[in-house]
Amino acid sequence: MSAPQVPLDTDLELPDVADTEALGERLAAGLAAGDLVVLSGPLGAGKTAFVRGLARGLGVSGPVTSPTFVIAREHRAGARGVPLVHVDAYRLGLATDVAAELDDLDLDTDLADAVVAVEWGEGVAERLSARHLLVRLHRRPDDVRVATVRYVDA
Ligand SMILES: Nc1ncnc2c1ncn2[C@@H]1O[C@H](COP(=O)(O)OP(=O)(O)OP(=O)(O)O)[C@@H](O)[C@H]1O
Ligand SMILES: [Mg+2]
Repeated sequence: MSAPQVPLDTDLELPDVADTEALGERLAAGLAAGDLVVLSGPLGAGKTAFVRGLARGLGVSGPVTSPTFVIAREHRAGARGVPLVHVDAYRLGLATDVAAELDDLDLDTDLADAVVAVEWGEGVAERLSARHLLVRLHRRPDDVRVATVRYVDA
């Protein structure tokens, strides 16, 4: 992953869902195969909207929808040549080994060849890669979403 194209460790205000998507799209510019993006934030914070932007930035195929009932969804590589694996760890629980869970799914996409984005990933997805981007989203009382992006290299 090269230097993220967005300010790090700063509150980024996202008044509209389009702003959340645009943030994901900008971040995609610095991502390469094998990179992990961990998304945290409560229900409805905008995690899936962010991944929709990531997908647009990577130019991958297929619509990004909430993968809550499928755990992981694969998007074939497009212009950038990198596929996206979109994971929702909501039902996996904190004790789950996400790496083992994804292994069991027997995905067509090798995670090392893809950008992997994990919703509800904080505390569970880090095992996939100690080095990752952590995107925290929350919803202010006025409904504006706020994001912080952190580069983690544990
Ligand atoms: N600034 C914003 N950013 C993102 N979503 C927004 C924003 N404003 C409104 N929304 C709306 O909030 C809703 C929830 O967005 P989204 O599904 O991306 O959240 P989520 O964090 O993935 O939720 P879940 O926890 O259910 O997976 C959507 O209907 C979206 O259009
Ligand atoms: Mg979601």
